[in-house]
Amino acid sequence: MHEPILNVADPRAGYLALKAEIDQAISEVLRSPSYILGPFVERFEAEMAAYVGMPYGVGVNNGTDAIHLALRGLGIGPGDEVITVSHTAVATVAGVRMAGAEPVLVDVDPGTYTISVEAARGALTPRTKAILAVHLYGHPADLGGLQELCAGTGIHLVEDCAQAHGATFAGRMVGSFGVVSTFSFYPTKNLGAIGDAGMVLTKDEQLAQRIRLLRQYGWETPQHSLIEGWNSRMDPLQAAVLSVKLRHLPAQIERRRALAARYIAALSGLPIELPKEAPSCHHAYHLFVIRVSDERTRDGLREYLRGSAVNAGIHYPFPVHLQTAYAGQMRAGPMAVTEAAAGTVLSLPLYPEMSDADVDRVCSGVVAYFAHRP
Ligand SMILES: Cc1ncc(COP(=O)(O)O)c(C=O)c1O
Repeated sequence: MHEPILNVADPRAGYLALKAEIDQAISEVLRSPSYILGPFVERFEAEMAAYVGMPYGVGVNNGTDAIHLALRGLGIGPGDEVITVSHTAVATVAGVRMAGAEPVLVDVDPGTYTISVEAARGALTPRTKAILAVHLYGHPADLGGLQELCAGTGIHLVEDCAQAHGATFAGRMVGSFGVVSTFSFYPTKNLGAIGDAGMVLTKDEQLAQRIRLLRQYGWETPQHSLIEGWNSRMDPLQAAVLSVKLRHLPAQIERRRALAARYIAALSGLPIELPKEAPSCHHAYHLFVIRVSDERTRDGLREYLRGSAVNAGIHYPFPVHLQTAYAGQMRAGPMAVTEAAAGTVLSLPLYPEMSDADVDRVCSGVVAYFAHRP
């Protein structure tokens, strides 16, 4: 008998686990009088803002747009620099470029794979307008260090929370530290839609209002653009589904953490670097990323696992500053940690609907690889 395939994430399992509630929510949207913005989007904006502990939420079309519009809303654009990382989804950097600003890429901390505060400090210039911190894999960046770095400088701290719904730093949700934070609800995320969706959260009412204009042609009233804008409206079908899924998110994050603990217990003692939680941090385990000694070992392990129907992933194989579209296009600091990580990280399957036995199957494969490898 063939084993079922285990992928890094399984959005369909997320739907099937909540099928009755999600079907009901979709049906409510279908029976509503309008299919653009409206009460489903407004409700989810309020729920998500309350969950994170920010006063205002603006639903947009995806997490890349959320970064673009957050920066535009802050008035950041051509001639301005935004410090962020190269070890991230390319979307982080794309969002900065969409605003017309210059990304300045720095290295990550070797323990958490999030922005190195020291590297960010070294990259500051008079043109620096924001630090865009990515809470990669679900682990918070050093928000205390970043807040200190930005304090009194006029530099905005912006949080890219696409991978970190539900992570906390010093007991507070990530996404509530900067003046503005951005979320993606891409289907595989901790809180995932059934298509594209994103959100900007902010403490600043005027900024929220500006981003509301920017997401819909700059319309102050229908058919009249007060400022130049785009179309990045959140789809009410996605909002309705996300309202359902948000109710289950805290339990799902606990499940992710329990599965991560199970992995850690089973894999300790192998020549693997396992995920850790830095002090004051509560990891939301969007991804369970291990690290091995070298690229040959990583690729060999990935191939070996594939033989038992386990599809591990790589986040991320190509640092942004080395990708064809971006190489030589932007200032990038020393990247020793980023470049080493690209060749040695491996993401094992992790999603709340996995069983303990599924995790045990992945672990058996990893243990067997290290026992038998040449
Ligand atoms: C760190 C990070 N930032 C931004 C994004 C962009 O989100 P989206 O795919 O919704 O545009 C993603 C997800 O793909 C991400 O992982």
